[in-house]
Amino acid sequence: MGKRTKRQLNTARGETASVRCLKDPLENPLDYIAEDHMREREVCALIDKMVATVQVEDGKREMMLTFLTEQLPQHLADEEIDLFPLMLKRCEPEAEIDKVIRKLESDHGHALADAPVIAALIAADENSALIFSDTACAQMTEFASHARRHLILENAIIMPIARARLTKRDLEIMRLHMLDRRGLERLEETETC
Ligand SMILES: [Fe+2]
Ligand SMILES: [Fe+2]
Repeated sequence: MGKRTKRQLNTARGETASVRCLKDPLENPLDYIAEDHMREREVCALIDKMVATVQVEDGKREMMLTFLTEQLPQHLADEEIDLFPLMLKRCEPEAEIDKVIRKLESDHGHALADAPVIAALIAADENSALIFSDTACAQMTEFASHARRHLILENAIIMPIARARLTKRDLEIMRLHMLDRRGLERLEETETC
């Protein structure tokens, strides 16, 4: 793990932008989740490019592998362990948010199982030859389209309700859990954002 807790986000336009420090008590952990969603969208676009045999630069390929093997499992845990239970606690039953969350959790099961497979396909293409079998192309395309549908649901329904309903205390607990999940809590006193 790098010294700084600040991570870098390669946007779809190839720019590099600072991502807010999760350790800053003034920061909203929902912004961090939203940034993970942006990165996930970018990974999906890159998967589509690879399937279409468009060359992807090495740095982006590494970013895809890191996202699929490290960041995505953390992100899914952020949602399943913190975000979704807090939403169930804060939303009225008649809002029927539980049905949406059950669907999202089911998607997570598939994503957790499939992400290592997709990462292995990308990693095996070490010379960027982009010669994937038809089966591999179908797996990659299906993974990206499922992920995009999932993102649409979360960005359109979950995130706006979470921003409206979660309390300051909820967000603080969530932020601390997210830090802990990433092994960052011990850095709080020694670094600045
Ligand atoms: Fe998500
Ligand atoms: Fe999710």
